[in-house]
Amino acid sequence: MPRPVLLVPRRLTADVEERLQREFDVVPPRDEVAAGVDMRQLAGEVDAICPTVIDRVDGDLLRRAGPRLRLVANFGVGYDNVDVAAARELGIVVTNTPDVLTEATADLAMTLLLMAARRAGEGERLVRSGNWRGWEPLQLLGQDVTGKTLGLVGFGRIGHAVAERAYRGFGMRILIYTRSPVETAVLERYGARQCGSLYELIENSHFVSLHSPGTPETRHLVDAAALRRFRPGAVLVNTARGTLIDEAALVEALSSGTLAAAGLDVYEREPEVHPGLRELENVVLLPHLGSATEQTRSAMGHRMLDNVAAFFAGLEPRDRVA
Ligand code: 8YV
Repeated sequence: MPRPVLLVPRRLTADVEERLQREFDVVPPRDEVAAGVDMRQLAGEVDAICPTVIDRVDGDLLRRAGPRLRLVANFGVGYDNVDVAAARELGIVVTNTPDVLTEATADLAMTLLLMAARRAGEGERLVRSGNWRGWEPLQLLGQDVTGKTLGLVGFGRIGHAVAERAYRGFGMRILIYTRSPVETAVLERYGARQCGSLYELIENSHFVSLHSPGTPETRHLVDAAALRRFRPGAVLVNTARGTLIDEAALVEALSSGTLAAAGLDVYEREPEVHPGLRELENVVLLPHLGSATEQTRSAMGHRMLDNVAAFFAGLEPRDRVA
């Protein structure tokens, strides 16, 4: 059987690139990737597309690709970059890469939570500026983390991993807001309570961390009205998708002090970041680094290629989402 041809628009880690060469035919040639790839032009000549979060696979691209294209193997757990409904309609299978990035993303959520609470970004900028004049008793006082209440919005794999860290490592009280009921045994594991509404969670949390997927239903879940419900001194963390927060309303809440601080890894219109956010001291801004470790990005690449290999071997890919 001829090797399947994959459209892989980004250069991945060295061992994933090696496997690509070993097991598949790949377009474009790897030395051309950096120049930018026109996926529309290549989609008709391949058996599968392997997009990343910044590679939009919309209905138009899928329809124009024609019958050869049978699989979209997304590099990432979130697949809001893929028009899943159009894929389903065309009989194109879609897979993602869950599990392998859970721990790295949970680590980054804790990084943001701690940085925002302890004003680490401001401190770092002060030292780098050369204006630090030495220790002061009232310098950059932040918020305690240990023993405080953390509200988790969304409770999938990453939400669980954050609960684990916060509960065991920082003795935090855990509140959860998610649509489906959480099993009592799971709640007991983290000494957690499931809230009946988002506002109930927000009103009772010192820290709120978002872990819901980016869908039309979760767009602006945290809007101006929700932001008004936060406790004084509260901190908001987002490592999920930027669309979950109304960024303009967030700028307002951080400027007025309704919200003490925020830690963001994702934005509404990446790589654009609301100019108001960039001017604020009380927000930590990271460039979508959730899964950005050498080991995790390799594991994601292998998981993606495991799905591709299974599909073309006639098996059900492990991470089929459509
Ligand atoms: C990835 C992510 O870096 O997996 C996800 O949903 O947001 C990130 O961990 C990105 O998706 C890679 O395409």
